[in-house]
Amino acid sequence: MEEIRYRDNRLYCEETFLEDVARQFGTPLYVYSKSSLLDHCRHIERTFDDIEHLSCYAVKANGNREILRLLANEGIGADAGSIGELVLSIEAGFLPEKITFSGVGKGDDEIEFALRNNIHSFNVESEEEINVISEIAERTWTMANILLRVNLDIQTPTHRYTSTGHKHSKFGIERDRALEIAKRISAFPGIKLIGIHSHIGSQITDAETFRNAANEVVAFIQELRSYGIDIKDLNFGGGFGVQYHDFVSHPLLPNDGIQTDSGVTTVNLLKSILPVLKESNCRILIQPGRSIVAHAGVLLTKVLYIKESGGKKFIIVDAGMNDLIRPSLYQAYHQIAPLTLYQSTHELVDVVGPLCETGDFFAQDRTLPAVHRGDFLALLCAGAYGFALSSNYNGRQRPAEIMVDGSECSIIRNRETVQQG
Ligand code: LLP
Repeated sequence: MEEIRYRDNRLYCEETFLEDVARQFGTPLYVYSKSSLLDHCRHIERTFDDIEHLSCYAVKANGNREILRLLANEGIGADAGSIGELVLSIEAGFLPEKITFSGVGKGDDEIEFALRNNIHSFNVESEEEINVISEIAERTWTMANILLRVNLDIQTPTHRYTSTGHKHSKFGIERDRALEIAKRISAFPGIKLIGIHSHIGSQITDAETFRNAANEVVAFIQELRSYGIDIKDLNFGGGFGVQYHDFVSHPLLPNDGIQTDSGVTTVNLLKSILPVLKESNCRILIQPGRSIVAHAGVLLTKVLYIKESGGKKFIIVDAGMNDLIRPSLYQAYHQIAPLTLYQSTHELVDVVGPLCETGDFFAQDRTLPAVHRGDFLALLCAGAYGFALSSNYNGRQRPAEIMVDGSECSIIRNRETVQQG
């Protein structure tokens, strides 16, 4: 399942030596393992066993057309967050009846497009949104299936920017208000209430937090039913955390030690909540993003300069925060590993990009094997929210993306040119 591994001193993706890929296609470069992508998807699917369910891949994590095509072929669904993601999903081959639409600010044109394409459902976030969807549905002679995204005030042990289930977040509808809306749902002629949705945040590695949220959602569904409100679908969202620390190991690499993500797997997180969700007797939907793509991807970069200043050593690489913003934005950890390991000496360094921002870094005060100008490094577990959050800041061109299948490589997105950027 994990396909990015050292063989002797060389880092491979499946049967392909990553340094060859970096030399052939240039850096910075996103590289994905096809087999890892499919394995992660299939492991999640198998965990459901005979439970009636629908997994909708959260397109925002990585919307590359080839990745979407491969996942659509697996028969799963997609969760879109904009008209762009709806179009990408449909073009990639996801069946409209397996597409959900999430987001706190859906535009009228987006709602109309989704209705005309007969998607499975809207995860709705406010009464005003329900009103608008109902009006557009009436005008277009369609009917909208909705799930109320409920905010159950769950505290999540994750970065505050990726925590969405607490009372003060912009997401979801408060429990009492959601109950009131559900009781009055017949007042919205274009709407059919089919379920309840909850998504408490992202990169959550604590099973207990998920179990609490699952218990709350199931209790809420039971309360709705006690008022005669029929709830068929329980959409539990995504957020299943993945291991970022110590993703690859080698005797020449420093060890990250025990971390909160050590040993976490989506399958185990799911296994701990499915028995709770099952009690609802609903069809279970999930919207995993990171847990399908994160481990399948790496960002390759080349060392441009080594600079010592102010008592620190800076490794200046050719990738920057415009290519992978997670460390700058969330102080997120990505393991950094040389594509060829030849140094047994370790040193304390900052790994920084070329952009004119102090926040343009990948690691600060990190112990790494010594490297030199021209060496190649991998930023690991970069398949989710990597390219997806990339930009043209500082007039930079977004990197190419490569899919590895065994010993074959194919370009699945061309590097931008200066003219395009
Ligand atoms: N469903 C909804 C409604 C979402 O908003 C998200 C992610 C997902 C599903 C998928 O969550 P996942 O399984 O990937 O955790 N850029 C941040 C993560 C932001 C997540 C946004 N919503 C990062 O790089 O960590």
